[in-house]
Amino acid sequence: MAGGLAFRLSEGIKNTGKPPIPQAYAWADAYRATPERPLLDMSQGVPGVPPPPLLLDALAKAAAAPTSCGYLPNAGEPALRRAMAEEMKVRYGADADVTPDDMAITAGCNMAFVAVAMALADAGDEVILPVPWYFNHEMTLTMLGIKPVLLHTLAKEGFLPSPERCAELVSPKTKAIVLCTPNNPTGAIYPHSLLASFAKLARERNIALVVDETYRDFITSGVPHHLFSPPSASSNSSLHADWSWRSTFIHLFSFSKSYCIPGHRLGLVCASPELIPAINTALDNLQICAPRPPQVALAPLIPSLRPFVRETAEAVAHRHTLFREKLPERWKIGSQGGYYAFVRHPFKGVHANEVCRRLAMEMGVVTLPAGFFGPKGEEDATVMDEDRWVRFSVANVDDRKVELVCERLAESEKVFDWELD
Ligand SMILES: Cc1ncc(COP(=O)(O)O)c(C=O)c1O
Repeated sequence: MAGGLAFRLSEGIKNTGKPPIPQAYAWADAYRATPERPLLDMSQGVPGVPPPPLLLDALAKAAAAPTSCGYLPNAGEPALRRAMAEEMKVRYGADADVTPDDMAITAGCNMAFVAVAMALADAGDEVILPVPWYFNHEMTLTMLGIKPVLLHTLAKEGFLPSPERCAELVSPKTKAIVLCTPNNPTGAIYPHSLLASFAKLARERNIALVVDETYRDFITSGVPHHLFSPPSASSNSSLHADWSWRSTFIHLFSFSKSYCIPGHRLGLVCASPELIPAINTALDNLQICAPRPPQVALAPLIPSLRPFVRETAEAVAHRHTLFREKLPERWKIGSQGGYYAFVRHPFKGVHANEVCRRLAMEMGVVTLPAGFFGPKGEEDATVMDEDRWVRFSVANVDDRKVELVCERLAESEKVFDWELD
C-alpha cells in the first residue's frame, strides 16, 4: 500500500488500547485442529444458541415491513419502552418504580455506555472503574479523554469492589462510579447490600452510579438488586429514607445476551427522565435511533420470550456447575456468574498471558488472560498472584465441550514443562 496518512489521528484514539479478542484468535490460528481434536473456544462472551423461531420469524417480518424502514425518535420504539418497563417489574419485583419515560433504547449496551459517558463527563473529568474492567468501558472513557480512576478488586474478596476504598478515590473531578454485575470478566455477582452501599456513597457525593447489567438475566437466584424499589426494601437498609433512584442510579442493559441477538444491536439505558434528554442529544449524533426492525419485532414478544430467557440462563448455570465439577483440582475458581468463570491457573511464576497463548496454540483451548481486562503491567515484572487469572466463557460452548476443555487443562499440566502449585 503506497503513501500513508497525510494527516494525524486524534490523541483520544491513539491513547485507546486495541480490542484484545483478535489477539486471542491470532493465537488460536496457530492451532492445528483435527476432527478428533477440534478448537475449543471459551474466549468470547457470545450466546451459544440462536433466538427461538418465534423471534426469528418476527425479526424477518419486521425487517421486510416498509413501516420499519424509517427513523424512530432517539429514545426508541415506544412499544418496546413500555414492554421493557413492564419486564423490569417482573425482573426487579413488582415494587420496582420504572416507567417507559425512564427508558432510552440504544444500538447495544456499548452504545448505551458511550452515550451515558458523554452525557455525564467532559474531557479531564474522572470516573471510578473497578479493575479488572470490561475493556470497552475503559476504552470509551480514554477515547473521550475522561480519566478512569482504578478501584482494584482482590481475589481474597471474591473480586467485589470495596465501597470504602472507592470513597477514598472520589475527588472534585469525579463524575461517576461504573460497576458491572454480574461482572465481566470475573463473573462476580455483587450482593444487593454492596450495590446499596455504592448507591449511598454516590448519592452522598453527588455523583452518578452507572451499573452495566448486561448479564442480569443470568442471575438465577432471585432479583439482581432492589435499587429501583423504595428504600424500605429488604437489602436497601444502608440507603437513606429519602432514596429515590432517579437522582443517582443509571442502569444499562443489553438485549444481546438475554435474547441471543448481538448482531441486531439493541441495548437500553434506564435513567431519570431528567437525564434522558441529555442522553438523546448524544444518541442523536451517534445513531439517531437504534435499529428499528428488532425493536418492532421484540416489543410484543417480551412476555412470551420469558421462558426462553429463563431456560437459557438455567442452561448456562448448569454449565457453570459442570465446569466447577470437572475443572482439574489445581485450577482454582475465584468467582463465577453470568457468562464467566475467573480461574487461577496452577503454573508457578508464569503470567496468564503466556498460559493462554500456549493453551490456544498447543492445546486448542481459547481463553482470555486477566491482563486483557486491566492496565498494561511491566513486561518483565515478577509474576504476581494477580497475574495468574484466566477468564473462561461458559456460555458459548455446550456441556460436552466444557468437559473436553477440562480434560485438556489436565493434559496441559503434563505437556507444559512448568512448575505446578
Ligand atoms: C459488560 C458488557 N457490557 C456491554 C457489552 C456489549 O453489549 P452490546 O452487544 O449490547 O453492545 C458486553 C458484551 O460482551 C459486556 O460484556
